[in-house]
Amino acid sequence: IDLPSHFDSKPAIVIGGTGLGAIDGYTPVAALHPVTPWGKPSSPIFILEHAGVPIAFLARHGLHHQLAPHEVPARANMAALRSIGVRSVIAFSAVGSLREEIKPMDFVVPDQIIDRTKGVRPFTFFEGGVVGHVGFADPFDAGLGRVVERCAAAMKGDGVTLHTAGTVVCMEGPQFSTRAESNMYRAWGGSVINMSALPEAKLAREAELAYQMICMATDYDCWQDSEDVDVAMVMKFMAANSANAKHLVGAVLDELCKLENSDLVLAKHWAGSAQGAVKFM
Ligand code: ADE
Repeated sequence: IDLPSHFDSKPAIVIGGTGLGAIDGYTPVAALHPVTPWGKPSSPIFILEHAGVPIAFLARHGLHHQLAPHEVPARANMAALRSIGVRSVIAFSAVGSLREEIKPMDFVVPDQIIDRTKGVRPFTFFEGGVVGHVGFADPFDAGLGRVVERCAAAMKGDGVTLHTAGTVVCMEGPQFSTRAESNMYRAWGGSVINMSALPEAKLAREAELAYQMICMATDYDCWQDSEDVDVAMVMKFMAANSANAKHLVGAVLDELCKLENSDLVLAKHWAGSAQGAVKFM
């Protein structure tokens, strides 16, 4: 892959995201088309520059939102990012709310995941003679999470509400949940539900990338008496809140581009956590 020369010694950050098709106000410097041993990523990786820091942007569901959650090539995505030098990932996702107090348009920085995918998505790099086990007790990177919290707090005046913890239930989809399932997830302690946190977060850990998801609530799923979730509802709230979503992500990037946060971006604390078992470069 030919990277712009200034990329070499500098950190890269990625936003992958549903409902976040692009990031405004950042200068594009390159579009990369990496091919990994696990295939091609969901979209070209756009390198944007901000304050001299390169940012990699990947559209999780493809440039035309043509990939269903179970079709997202998560291994290729994480491997491609890692291979171009990314060490920390901010991932964006639309979610259903499983809690009264998490209202549509609210943001959540989750700290836990419950896996309700069905094992049909390729979910590990460790196979075919490469044996490894990574810790996953805390699936997200708390340091990145704190940065998101600070940025959202600064946007309170714009009506932005952020919940600073929560458990995301990741279901297989593409169908939404039954009412019985939705109530069960609530009983389990789920805060929000999506179809995208996994296997992405697991693969990020195996690739020794710091990973934090920002969730944006678009509906109350179907446990409540109000209207049941459908695609139109998700899209309506996504559109209504897209300016806030872009502001929040922009503020997070601004913050991460600061020199004092370079340790978060370079995420050295994750280096070696998967015993470097897989070679991505
Ligand atoms: N993404 C947005 N809303 C959702 C819901 N209710 N269930 C699963 N994924 C979602």
